[in-house]
Amino acid sequence: PYEGEIALISQSGALGVALIGRTWIDKVGLSKFISIGNMADLNFSDFVEYFKDDEETKVIALYIEGVKDGRKFLEVSSKTSKVKPVIALKAGLSKRGASAAMSHTGSLAGSAEVYKAAFKQSGVIMAEDLTDLFVKANALALCPRMVGDNWVIITNGGGVGVLSTDAGEKYGIPLPDIPEELKNEFKKCMPEFGSPKNPVDLTGMATEKEYKEALKIALKSDFVHGIIVLYCHTAHTDPMEIAKAIKEAIDETGGMKKPVIVSFIGGKEVYDAIDWLKENKIPAYDAPEMAVKALATIRHYTKWAERPLVKPKPPENIDRKRAREIIEKALSEGREWLFENEAKELLATYGVRVTKMKVAKNEEEAVQYAKEIGFPVVMKIVSPDVIHKSDVGGVKVDLNSEEEVRKAYKEIIENVKKHVPNARIEGISVQEMAPWGTEVIIGSTRDPQFGPTVMFGLGGIFVEILKDVTFRVAPIGDDQAKEMIEEIKGYPIIAGARGRRALDKDALADAIARISWLVYENPEIVELDANPVFLYERGLMVADARVRLKRQE
Ligand SMILES: Nc1ncnc2c1ncn2[C@@H]1O[C@H](COP(=O)(O)OP(=O)(O)O)[C@@H](O)[C@H]1O
Ligand SMILES: [Mg+2]
Repeated sequence: PYEGEIALISQSGALGVALIGRTWIDKVGLSKFISIGNMADLNFSDFVEYFKDDEETKVIALYIEGVKDGRKFLEVSSKTSKVKPVIALKAGLSKRGASAAMSHTGSLAGSAEVYKAAFKQSGVIMAEDLTDLFVKANALALCPRMVGDNWVIITNGGGVGVLSTDAGEKYGIPLPDIPEELKNEFKKCMPEFGSPKNPVDLTGMATEKEYKEALKIALKSDFVHGIIVLYCHTAHTDPMEIAKAIKEAIDETGGMKKPVIVSFIGGKEVYDAIDWLKENKIPAYDAPEMAVKALATIRHYTKWAERPLVKPKPPENIDRKRAREIIEKALSEGREWLFENEAKELLATYGVRVTKMKVAKNEEEAVQYAKEIGFPVVMKIVSPDVIHKSDVGGVKVDLNSEEEVRKAYKEIIENVKKHVPNARIEGISVQEMAPWGTEVIIGSTRDPQFGPTVMFGLGGIFVEILKDVTFRVAPIGDDQAKEMIEEIKGYPIIAGARGRRALDKDALADAIARISWLVYENPEIVELDANPVFLYERGLMVADARVRLKRQE
């Protein structure tokens, strides 16, 4: 392969060999190449761990079809990515065949979502396709870290400057305004009608001389943390001369101390200049968006690497003994699904707030419990043969009197018998009626590669239609739970948009983290849905929950 500092590990032999050829075309330098096939003895984790300490390797690039030991991969990658970038292209991210899952979370958790979550959590940079893998890996290998958010664009054309500005916003590195002193310096390398604002427009008049001066100014400026140099081929300039000026500016200021990424646009000569830049270890592309995307990747990676690795700690006040009792009782009765009241009590053992409730065996008990709990109450069928309770008329809400409770009791039994003739009825749960709040969903499924996961999203149509949800591999801490809350599209609803009051993000993050520990510490739980959870300005309350246990052989 073309020589460099990227270790490429490929699960596909054929693709791997082909990519070696491509390294010459793209001038993407490799330190080592490994084809791991079906991973009979060594797998991705072993190689990532090995390359973490390999001095010849600056970037670890992976082509993954499937990781065998997801948890180990997560752990090793989390550590390695703090030292050097790990970038992965994952094949097979399209939807897994329709799962037979009965819960919301189950149907939303394709392997793609879980892989994305695992990569995010362990700092693994995700490549979108082969080209993206090469572009990002190469820029990461050739550039130093970008230790701040300020970047400038130096260009000879307004159009490409605007395209790059747009790309900056798209990839999460919005282009900043630059200080007056810096503008005044840039003014010296452009005609009167140039623009010293960011993008720095040297105008179509610019030659290698102006490029070199402007780049040196940016390289020397303490304000600037990253640089994009754009060039549109003009009749009076030679792209190779511009390329050389870029290298000289870098060399004369002591080497590439901050990322410099180049994009040249034009005909054949431009491609020769791009190749020359790459051969001289300056990342260069033919598309300005690609250059900006590469810079954004470096910035995001730097931020990740600068943050210390925190191992989430289990939350306080967990009644593990009671949790085990609930699970074991269901298992001993050969049940796969917990009753709703058990599922909610299980959540409560891990410190998640649920409605008060009691299971009545007859009408008299129901009345008594309703009085104890206080009106209004909700009543629900408790039966191993009913999973979706409303579907069979098994839920009555807003019951305000003894009379209504008696009537509801009879109706629920009647409805259930009508819909499920042989249903075994354990009783009817009488519960506190949660005040109305914003509906959210917290869930979990067990992924074949990564094990227990936790999911969060807004409830109602947000989850049903928009699938606005996010995943993590469990367990997680409050900070990671907060990141989940902030990254869904509906976040402004929680943060308090358009005159709405902000909702209790801390309580929500706490509940998500606690549920992640519940599923992590109790491996029999294969699916969990707390849905709806009503979220308030203060606190939250779980109104319904489903928990499915691993079927006993
Ligand atoms: N304790 C409660 N307080 C307030 N509303 C409730 C309560 N329990 C259920 N509900 C409302 O009734 C709906 C249906 O009840 P639920 O327990 O979710 O039954 P299902 O098994 O059909 O999902 C819930 O989505 C919620 O809107
Ligand atoms: Mg429900």
